[in-house]
Amino acid sequence: MNVDQTLVNMPTIGFGTYLIPNEEAQKTINTVLKIGYRHIDTAEVYRNEVGIGLGLKDTFTQLSLQRNDVFITSKVFPGNPSWGREAKNYKMCIEACDSSLKRLNLDYLDCYLIHAPFCKDLRLEQWKALCDLKKEGKTRTIGVSNYSQLHIQEIINEGLEAPEYNQIELHPWCQKKELVSFLKEKNIRVVAYSSLVPLEGWRAKPNQDSAKSQSMKEDGADNSSPFKRMSKKYGMSEAQILLKWGLQMGFVILPKSSDENRIRENFDLSFKIDDTDMKEISTMDRGDGIAWPNGDPCNSK
Ligand SMILES: NC(=O)c1ccc[n+]([C@@H]2O[C@H](COP(=O)([O-])OP(=O)(O)OC[C@H]3O[C@@H](n4cnc5c(N)ncnc54)[C@H](OP(=O)(O)O)[C@@H]3O)[C@@H](O)[C@H]2O)c1
Repeated sequence: MNVDQTLVNMPTIGFGTYLIPNEEAQKTINTVLKIGYRHIDTAEVYRNEVGIGLGLKDTFTQLSLQRNDVFITSKVFPGNPSWGREAKNYKMCIEACDSSLKRLNLDYLDCYLIHAPFCKDLRLEQWKALCDLKKEGKTRTIGVSNYSQLHIQEIINEGLEAPEYNQIELHPWCQKKELVSFLKEKNIRVVAYSSLVPLEGWRAKPNQDSAKSQSMKEDGADNSSPFKRMSKKYGMSEAQILLKWGLQMGFVILPKSSDENRIRENFDLSFKIDDTDMKEISTMDRGDGIAWPNGDPCNSK
């Protein structure tokens, strides 16, 4: 396949699609691209790739967009033996990418990630599969998600191509400072997910699983949110403050919303958080991420 490898640039604001149901994905992608997003983040486990593919097809025609105008990421779920989910071997990772491409109705991805470092025994084999997918042109770039320094060092020690991205949970309550500086040092782009965790309404609808209700929401922290003060100061919403923090930290961000006004708001980030407030936010770290109900996957052995 003839894919131009020279102009690969992940747009800094992507649209996250976890919990966007497949039936809604086509319409949502249409809205998102009309608003101006040019980066979509999905995964085989989100079960919405078919709807996203339909949305891309329709909207490309409507807006006269070319395939290379939009950056599309998907992820292979590696398996997880401790959850009774078979670990994927090399061949299964190649097949997973082919299946994602088929569902999305695309010839290539812009970025393909290993969703989490769950499979100690097959981690390197899984990474070799991604390296080969890139060589074959099925994806323009490759990376990992929820990998710690140790998981990444394992790849580097093996002399394999280093990941181009690590997608991890990052927000003022989960700042992963050591990991972030390690990634910057290794020239690995930091992609932040679940930027909006500190919002009172974050995944508050029924069945939107996370560990927040147990670990954070009940401690009353939301009521004394300093983001409410900053929201007044800058005339922007709390969500915009959280997202802008991520951008000013140098992260790519992936806000998800099912609401058109919020989708628009999350893309409108042309203001600056001043140094005093950035400094205050830097003191708010509470440790591990809470987006996954079973604990932060960066801690996997
Ligand atoms: N690699 C991984 O392991 C991993 C894990 C988690 C997420 N991700 C990726 O990162 C993306 C974003 O993370 P996320 O989905 O966990 O959460 P998020 O984008 O941090 O937050 C989404 C939540 O915030 C609400 N929200 C969105 N915009 C808002 C606004 N302007 N004002 C108030 N509330 C707002 C949404 O509600 P409404 O939808 O009702 O607006 C939803 O409850 C995911 O969709 C996925 O693509 C990756």
